[in-house]
Amino acid sequence: MKGVILSGGHGTRLRPLTHTGPKQLIPIANKPVIYYAIEDLRDAGITDIGIILGTNMPNKIKDALGDGSKFGVKITYIMQGEPKGLAHAAATAKDFVDGDSFVMYLGDNILKSGIEEFVKGFDESKFASRLLLQEVPDPRQFGVAELNDNGEIINLVEKPEHPKSNLALVGIYLFKNEIFDAIDKIKPSWRNELEITDAIQKLIDEGYDVDSFVVEGWWKDTGKPEDVLDANQLILESIQTDIKGTIEDDVKIKGRVIIGEDTIIKSGSVIKGPAIIGKNCEIKGYVGPYTSIGDNTKLIESEIDSSIIIGNSIIQSDKRITESLLGQNSKIISDKTTYPKGRSFVIGENSIINL
Ligand code: TTP
Repeated sequence: MKGVILSGGHGTRLRPLTHTGPKQLIPIANKPVIYYAIEDLRDAGITDIGIILGTNMPNKIKDALGDGSKFGVKITYIMQGEPKGLAHAAATAKDFVDGDSFVMYLGDNILKSGIEEFVKGFDESKFASRLLLQEVPDPRQFGVAELNDNGEIINLVEKPEHPKSNLALVGIYLFKNEIFDAIDKIKPSWRNELEITDAIQKLIDEGYDVDSFVVEGWWKDTGKPEDVLDANQLILESIQTDIKGTIEDDVKIKGRVIIGEDTIIKSGSVIKGPAIIGKNCEIKGYVGPYTSIGDNTKLIESEIDSSIIIGNSIIQSDKRITESLLGQNSKIISDKTTYPKGRSFVIGENSIINL
């Protein structure tokens, strides 16, 4: 079995962060989100992995993943170019897949339970596809599956107004070779994309059996800033304490906390986990729960919680920073230290500031 991770797309909903790189490299608990997908595939025994690349700085993905050996997998890069839909992305992997069955994993999705159980037995089964589903309170914003009594899928609807079930499609799919013929037969949707749901519905209409697997643990699609922060919170829930840096006297550490090499936590600081602080940081102030601070960051007499600082940043603020997502090389400096008093910004397109 092979793995295909979709790492193209425009990532418009994550601008401005995606102006400087693909969204699959945004860190969750200080680790790029796509790493979790690679590790899930590897842990399920799938080590031959194709990475689908788009037009948004694909070399950054190549630099981050290399040939895959650091994960214990073999990576092949496949160029999709412009994002013409998930089914179009899948079709670009046809030569790489070369007749094998495969897992298609959206590179911005993250799943607590891993995929071992989901994958088990699919190769030998009669099914042309198996879909991962999750019960959600409001299915109207998802692809929704209707099942028969055997758990086989009889119908798929994208964002239905009146959903027939509360089972949403998670961004991880199992396919056999028949999917490529089905993709050839579908037409672009109203948004001019080849939709994977249409291709799967085509399989069903042509009489192929499509199986389902309902996942119990959490699943997150990190398409929007609030989803990235949610995923960060969910991953931090399960970290274990690991302190490598220096903790000065009179520092309070509560809960589970990871602190990287060459980081110094200055006297008087309070770190309340779960939280992760990368390498070579200088922290003086309060780091609250569900915060990830990337390498080479300085927190000077400041408070932060429920946030992600990607790295190489400076924060010196007399107002607590909360539920924030800061790209590389950000600076937030209090007007207490400069004249004239007042808010001063240099911000990119599509930035969001709540004062
Ligand atoms: P989406 O989040 O649906 O699309 P997007 O990345 O273009 O984001 P936005 O809507 O904010 O502009 O994509 C889901 C995943 O699939 C993501 O990892 C990107 C990837 N993808 C491709 O690789 N090729 C494609 O043609 C599309 C549409 C998505």
